[in-house]
Amino acid sequence: MRTALIAGNWKMHRTAAEARGLAEELRGVVGGTGASADVVVCPTFTSLQVVGEALEGSGISLGAQNMHWEKEGAFTGEVSAAMILTIGCIYVILGHSERRQYFAETDESVNRKLAAALDAGLKPIVCVGETLEQREAGQMEKVVLGQVRAALDGIPAEAIPGIALAYEPIWAIGTGRTATPAQAEEVHLLIRQFLRSIFGDRAADAVRIQYGGSVKPDNASELFSQANIDGGLIGGASLEMESFAAIVSAAG
Ligand code: 13P
Repeated sequence: MRTALIAGNWKMHRTAAEARGLAEELRGVVGGTGASADVVVCPTFTSLQVVGEALEGSGISLGAQNMHWEKEGAFTGEVSAAMILTIGCIYVILGHSERRQYFAETDESVNRKLAAALDAGLKPIVCVGETLEQREAGQMEKVVLGQVRAALDGIPAEAIPGIALAYEPIWAIGTGRTATPAQAEEVHLLIRQFLRSIFGDRAADAVRIQYGGSVKPDNASELFSQANIDGGLIGGASLEMESFAAIVSAAG
């Protein structure tokens, strides 16, 4: 069976000193939950070092929120896979809808980043999800599976189990409006069936598909109990350690 993956995406919140404090708190509260889920936190680039230090030996992994696909070069403002790996990251979030929406991230750049992350030995979390407008126009399946197909273009089946996908409907992010467990499960199943048709049973059965979008302590258990939901990518609630710990516990 798949181990649930709970990742906290801290987005552009907290200075390095504040992030260190949060990580110390996290260590205390999540360390005590006896969690069976894999737990990851993804602070800003400037906090990776101190959060990594604060979490050392805790079993909680470090992740970055983005990276560039090139190994190095004249790319002002960018950070490479080797840079985040050597600072202690195991995971990296790729293609978050906020990056697609505000920073011109495209399916093509997500695909290049994914190949580079795998090449470097990072565990990518690839985000997909439709807008409310697309959902209401009946385009959810086309949009989401199109993003999955494009992100995974050229990636070999053997690499698929090492990738996590995060289904984050844009209309549920930071809005307090969560997808119902049934709505989320429908999409997760569609994604898994799609992966099965392209990469085969082994890959489709192993890949973890997280749900993200207003996951809170009071809705986490029901979401995570769905057959094809393998944990969550948590925004706002991951900045409140009691809430995050409760969400980690809800994953079993
Ligand atoms: P919220 O949990 O704040 O809705 O954010 C979800 C998200 O975007 C995680 O990547």
